[in-house]
Amino acid sequence: MAFDVATAALLAVGLLAGSVSSAASQTYTWENVKTGGGGGFTPGIVFNPSAKGVAYARTDIGGPYRLNVDDTWTPLLDSVNNSNWHNWGIDALATDPVDTKRLYLAVGMYTNEWDPNPGSILRSTDMGNTWQETVLPFKVGGNMPGRGVGERLAVDPNDNSIIYFGARSGHGLWKSTDYGVTWSNVTSFTWTGTYFQDSSSSYTSDPVGIAWVTFDSTSGTKGSPTPRIFVGVVDTGKSVFKSEDGGATWAWVSGEPLYGFLPHKGILSPLEKTLYISYSNGAGPYDGTNGTVHKYNVSTGVWTDISPTPMASTYYGYGGLAVDLQVPGTVMVAALNCWWPDELIWRSLDSGATWSAIWAWNGYPNIDYYYSYDISNAPWLQDNTSTAQFPVRVGWMVEALAIDPFDSNHWLYGTGETIYGGHDLLKWDSSHNVTLKSLAVGIEEMAVLGLISPPGGPPLLSAVGDDGGFYHTDLNTVPSQYFHDPTYGTTNGIDYAGNKPAYIVRAGASSTLPTVSLSTDYGLTWSADYAASSSTVPGAVALSADGDTVLLMPTTGSPLISKYTSSFSTVSGLPPLAVIASDKSNNTVFYGGYAGSFYTSTDGGVSFTKTVSLGSSSAVNAIRAHPSIAGDIWASTDTGLWHSTNSGSSFTQIGSGCTAGWSFGLGKAANTGSYPVIFGFFTVDGVTALFKTEDSGINWQMISDAAHGFGASSSNVVNGDMSNYGRVFVGTNGRGICATASPYGQCGGSGYTGPTICPSGWSCTVGNPYYSQCVQS
Ligand SMILES: *[C@@H]1O[C@H](CO)[C@@H](O)[C@H](O)[C@H]1NC(C)=O
Ligand SMILES: *[C@@H]1O[C@H](CO)[C@@H](O)[C@H](O)[C@H]1NC(C)=O
Ligand SMILES: *[C@@H]1O[C@H](CO)[C@@H](O)[C@H](O)[C@H]1NC(C)=O
Ligand SMILES: *[C@@H]1O[C@H](CO)[C@@H](O)[C@H](O)[C@H]1NC(C)=O
Ligand SMILES: *[C@@H]1O[C@H](CO)[C@@H](O)[C@H](O)[C@H]1NC(C)=O
Ligand SMILES: *[C@@H]1O[C@H](CO)[C@@H](O)[C@H](O)[C@H]1NC(C)=O
Ligand SMILES: *[C@@H]1O[C@H](CO)[C@@H](O)[C@H](O)[C@H]1NC(C)=O
Repeated sequence: MAFDVATAALLAVGLLAGSVSSAASQTYTWENVKTGGGGGFTPGIVFNPSAKGVAYARTDIGGPYRLNVDDTWTPLLDSVNNSNWHNWGIDALATDPVDTKRLYLAVGMYTNEWDPNPGSILRSTDMGNTWQETVLPFKVGGNMPGRGVGERLAVDPNDNSIIYFGARSGHGLWKSTDYGVTWSNVTSFTWTGTYFQDSSSSYTSDPVGIAWVTFDSTSGTKGSPTPRIFVGVVDTGKSVFKSEDGGATWAWVSGEPLYGFLPHKGILSPLEKTLYISYSNGAGPYDGTNGTVHKYNVSTGVWTDISPTPMASTYYGYGGLAVDLQVPGTVMVAALNCWWPDELIWRSLDSGATWSAIWAWNGYPNIDYYYSYDISNAPWLQDNTSTAQFPVRVGWMVEALAIDPFDSNHWLYGTGETIYGGHDLLKWDSSHNVTLKSLAVGIEEMAVLGLISPPGGPPLLSAVGDDGGFYHTDLNTVPSQYFHDPTYGTTNGIDYAGNKPAYIVRAGASSTLPTVSLSTDYGLTWSADYAASSSTVPGAVALSADGDTVLLMPTTGSPLISKYTSSFSTVSGLPPLAVIASDKSNNTVFYGGYAGSFYTSTDGGVSFTKTVSLGSSSAVNAIRAHPSIAGDIWASTDTGLWHSTNSGSSFTQIGSGCTAGWSFGLGKAANTGSYPVIFGFFTVDGVTALFKTEDSGINWQMISDAAHGFGASSSNVVNGDMSNYGRVFVGTNGRGICATASPYGQCGGSGYTGPTICPSGWSCTVGNPYYSQCVQS
């Protein structure tokens, strides 16, 4: 359903009665702002062995995806909202080899105190379009150490009502015999996995638990439980176990080499009756300096070391492992992390006796690259300003590696940043030169830290974790590069100057360059702000209305201020970690909020004064200034939404049932001259969701919906668009940037340079030579 024009117009002119209409039926059309390259870690990729073309990828913070025939991916858990945000952490995935539309997930984000709730098994009978949930009696850690081992969830290929799940945290092995509806502890399996990364924090000290469950399909007959089941456990002692009686009794697989390494993958080659295992001395996904690849010949019980690199000279562990189910003896394995000069992947055609690599030294510093590199789907995956001698292209954090069971030419692997793969894998064997292509279109996994839509500029500038941030010329066009010169891995904050919107500031970490940079062309080009150095801790930023003063709130330490790029000095009167904003009209005015109190600076951010306490609020979550009225500001707190028209000297609390607010933004009003629309994550009448109000908080409409929940409300970043009525941007924590299509927006006309694509259900219609508009088709 598209935006309800009639209702919106009536609401805008105040003709509809009623204070709170959180159940209003308007539905916005949501689309991802396209970046095309994933942008985060893909710990697992699983092909269904029985249904051609059925494959899934799981992410650690942004849910699961299903592969489409055109190589794009469809997100499967966009329904996740504030109530079940942790369901975006996918610790394991299983696709049913018998009833191939059935799909299972183990979900939950953290096993420590960061996530209060137990995990769940989600099950689907329609390939992930709809889900049912069984809550487990323990937590699941989709974003915990060791999230790339697996899969720790598996469906019995001979009796698909049977499913096993290997838990973390010492909770052992669990089994369902009713398609995942109910679960019970397999008490005969006593090896729960004692390994944890280190004792420095509750995050790293929780045992990673069971790594994988692999059925030996060849040991059974259709319709009866599979007798032989292998289980890998994250333990530095004995770590591979098997049952020969359908899970009734278990024993260590004797002869397993005991080097103290952890078994990351246990992949069966049924045609060879052989189990292949990759080992690393760390749980991953970042670590690993030693390891082996072994095979266990099920027929003979013989273990063989088939490591591509001898242990004495290895400097990585092994992660991703794949067999070609159609071709016995074809095996591939990846170093979990080979940080220098680039990731290594090997392929063997003789069951691991000999290997060839994806690149090889040819007399240092020469390298033979046995691939051509195609990142046309996401050119920004390579920094085109980099002068690195050995560009990292193959990747890092490779735990997911898979060969299509129906197409020996088709392979995929996940990295810390994207999914690569291709359709000419057999060329590895013929000419030893494959096409390595970024194949993550549709996966939008970025964690978004800031969004602005500076008037007169591009529709959107984004600050994102790990992938820098982008100048989005067009919401449907993949950016060619992320922000450069300076280049930051993570951009923590971004802001524009209200009176000179082409002036932009951003902040992010750099080991060599200033952590703050400035642009005067809407973020197209940048220069380092030498007010900062590489040791200045980055964080949120606010740029004064005329663009000459930068307020920086580092992620640790006191706030800092710099005018005319003079060295940053400490701000007085504003607590560390306060939220900050600049007045968008008055160059000397800045705002801050912390612990329920509001702070204003009238001296260009040099000093702040606490003006008021916002009622009984104990937190200030966001501050936004009106784009063109000096002193007109809004603050969201843990008690609701507050408005001031005198630069924060006094505030009015917005009533109408709004009892909490997080990130929000102002966007263009339906009618010229009307006050902007406010969009944001609020609790209204007890419902926490994305809302808008067209009348400054008298009436509210929920604009998130059952299919678009945006995960945790408190983690999201929202902003409006002052040029396009109805457009709001939502930056998520793991599902990229979402935007509403802008139903009333201009889409063409002489001299127009903005976006030209209308939402689905709308088409761009010429009004006159100077103005084309999106109208409902
Ligand atoms: C959030 O999702 C849950 C689970 O699907 C659902 O019951 C609830 O209605 C949703 N909440 C909102 C505000 O949409
Ligand atoms: C499950 O069984 C294992 C092994 O017997 C045991 O260590 C673990 O505590 C059990 N977990 C739960 C949640 O009962
Ligand atoms: C397993 O052992 C048998 C008997 O020695 C041998 O013929 C077969 O090739 C072995 N399989 C693999 C994959 O090494
Ligand atoms: C890897 O571990 C093995 C077994 O402990 C050891 O013999 C070998 O020297 C290690 N390799 C390196 C490069 O340290
Ligand atoms: C593989 O093909 C690419 C693209 O043609 C080429 O750049 C590369 O040098 C080739 N690799 C080798 C080792 O010939
Ligand atoms: C990098 O890409 C940007 C954006 O496409 C382009 O403007 C710039 O010229 C490129 N720089 C280099 C050094 O290739
Ligand atoms: C900007 O704010 C300062 C400090 O409150 C005030 O003195 C000044 O008059 C304001 N300037 C304008 C143009 O409103």
